[in-house]
Amino acid sequence: MRKPLIAGNWKMNKTISEAVQVVKDLKNAVDGVTDVEILICPPFTALCAVNNIVKDSNINLGAQDLFWETKGAFTGEISPSMIKDAGCSYVLIGHSERRQYFGETDETVNKKIKAAFLAGLTPVVCIGETLKERENNVTFKVIEKQFKCGLTGIPPEYASLAVVAYEPVWAIGTGKTATPDQAQEVHSFIRKIYGKIYKAAAEKLRILYGGSVNPGNVSELMKKSDIDGGLVGGASLDAETFAKLVKYSK
Ligand code: 13P
Repeated sequence: MRKPLIAGNWKMNKTISEAVQVVKDLKNAVDGVTDVEILICPPFTALCAVNNIVKDSNINLGAQDLFWETKGAFTGEISPSMIKDAGCSYVLIGHSERRQYFGETDETVNKKIKAAFLAGLTPVVCIGETLKERENNVTFKVIEKQFKCGLTGIPPEYASLAVVAYEPVWAIGTGKTATPDQAQEVHSFIRKIYGKIYKAAAEKLRILYGGSVNPGNVSELMKKSDIDGGLVGGASLDAETFAKLVKYSK
């Protein structure tokens, strides 16, 4: 069976000292949890300091983005091996905020996914429709395009290792969660199209839901058969709240 994954995306929040404090508290609060995989994705500047606290614990570390080249004259960018070197095993790719504000496209997402795998990192690939797209009834079309273009040409040995996060843009930071049924409908669609490309790997693919997940709605979402975890923004910034999410009632 697929092990649930609860991931925190801290976005552009927390100085190094703030990050260290939260992660120390979180480590104590989730000590002994083994039935759920835990991931936190702090900003680049805090990765090393946070790694010093979480290494050898049940908390995994991820970055929020990477660049696909291995090294060179790419001012401001961070390579996959640098991320790995900082202690990360995961990396978020194609978050809607990167698509919206920083020109991320399905093509760059695809390059980043391949670079992540080559460096031994697990990509968490984010996809999701805007409110306008949902209102225009093109949600499935948008998801299929993002998914097919973004996840094309992945070597079969990696296909089952990828993680996908379905994050409807209208649910991010708005307090408006997709209902468990709305999320399940898209998750099962994603698994179906993944199966058409990568066959048996689809059953192993973990699909997270993201968008205003909080301790009050996580259990209902997690009851759905194709929801394998959550990608949490705001509610991951506080150790106590995030620990409640990790320990959601099953
Ligand atoms: P919120 O949980 O704050 O809605 O953010 C979701 C998100 O974008 C996680 O990547």
